[in-house]
Amino acid sequence: MSKLVSKWNYPTTVRFGQGRISELPDALAATGIKRPLFVTDPGLAKLPVVARTLKLLADAKVPHGVFSEVKPNPVESNLAAGIEVYKKGKHDGVIAFGGGSALDLGKLIAFQAGQTRPVWDFEDIGDWWTRADADAIAPIIAVPTTAGTGSEVGRAGVVTHEATHTKKVIFHPKMLPSIVIADPELTSGMPPFITAGTGMDALAHCLEAYCAPGYHPMADGIAVEGIRLVFENLPKAYADGKDLTARAHMMSAAAMGAAAFQKGLGAIHSLSHPVGALYDTHHGMTNAVFMPYVLAFNRDAVEDRIARLAAYVGIKGGFDGFAKAVLKLRKELKVPHALPGLIKGLDMDKKRKNLIADMAVVDPTAGGNPVKLTKKAALALLDKAIEGTV
Ligand SMILES: [Fe+2]
Repeated sequence: MSKLVSKWNYPTTVRFGQGRISELPDALAATGIKRPLFVTDPGLAKLPVVARTLKLLADAKVPHGVFSEVKPNPVESNLAAGIEVYKKGKHDGVIAFGGGSALDLGKLIAFQAGQTRPVWDFEDIGDWWTRADADAIAPIIAVPTTAGTGSEVGRAGVVTHEATHTKKVIFHPKMLPSIVIADPELTSGMPPFITAGTGMDALAHCLEAYCAPGYHPMADGIAVEGIRLVFENLPKAYADGKDLTARAHMMSAAAMGAAAFQKGLGAIHSLSHPVGALYDTHHGMTNAVFMPYVLAFNRDAVEDRIARLAAYVGIKGGFDGFAKAVLKLRKELKVPHALPGLIKGLDMDKKRKNLIADMAVVDPTAGGNPVKLTKKAALALLDKAIEGTV
């Protein structure tokens, strides 16, 4: 029994359901935010969905500002610019509206605007988060418009250190949004490629969390149901973006993935992170490419677990059946089978492969892989993903 020791953190209030974006003014009142800064990305800012949401605020006579200068992977200067707008507008809270980048940046602005130390002092290392002035962190309302990252129920934000080109995870428990409005209608405009990529990211979160070692039955339970929801609904949402039932289940699966991965992630993410950083590929799509190779690599450690999972999801054939189902799902979503299908004209020399393997083994997710990810293993996985041999 001595090994049954763990730490559990569970998400926040989620107002889930079609049309619930109309409750935004009420959510602001419930959180005590009187002058929100609305943080979104430049693509979304031009779309009617943002205009409609801002009208809800105007109609409710909520004074607000808008900030949308964020790169797909938020950088330090985006954060600095956002904080300036936040302070100038005398805002007292943030509405983070969008996909991963807008949600992360919105959370980071609310966190960092009242701090006196540089943001890098709050990287997710040990207890560095205790250096922050918790009382100076502004409340956040998160409104996801994709179904993948799950950042809406997370307590961290990722920002790129521009000088070193490294992504840093900034963590504080109070970076968890006070209220999430999860309205599946907001995701119905996502094009198929993004639906597939973000959905496969949610699957990767659930699968890697489920396979990560450690005692965390709550995360495991959430992960298996999340995986079932993805298998049943992602092909439907991909084929028909207006299928709001499928969209709703995918929105749940995304939040479930993020709730589950407090247990850990693994080698899918460890390899995907450097490839994404060096080739600017879509995070979820890159995960989707690596998934079957990593699953095969981990086989000995997770065979029984995956057989149990397969039985629950309704997939016959234990581990092999599940591995086949992953390949079938990827095919349905037009996920490239190998890396050259994802990165046009890919020609990786030995030096580049070594760099990726070096980055993968020190990625914070590597420790969660059920089989130790050595440099040799990372190189072998990379070769398999390039050749397409599972
Ligand atoms: Fe991810």
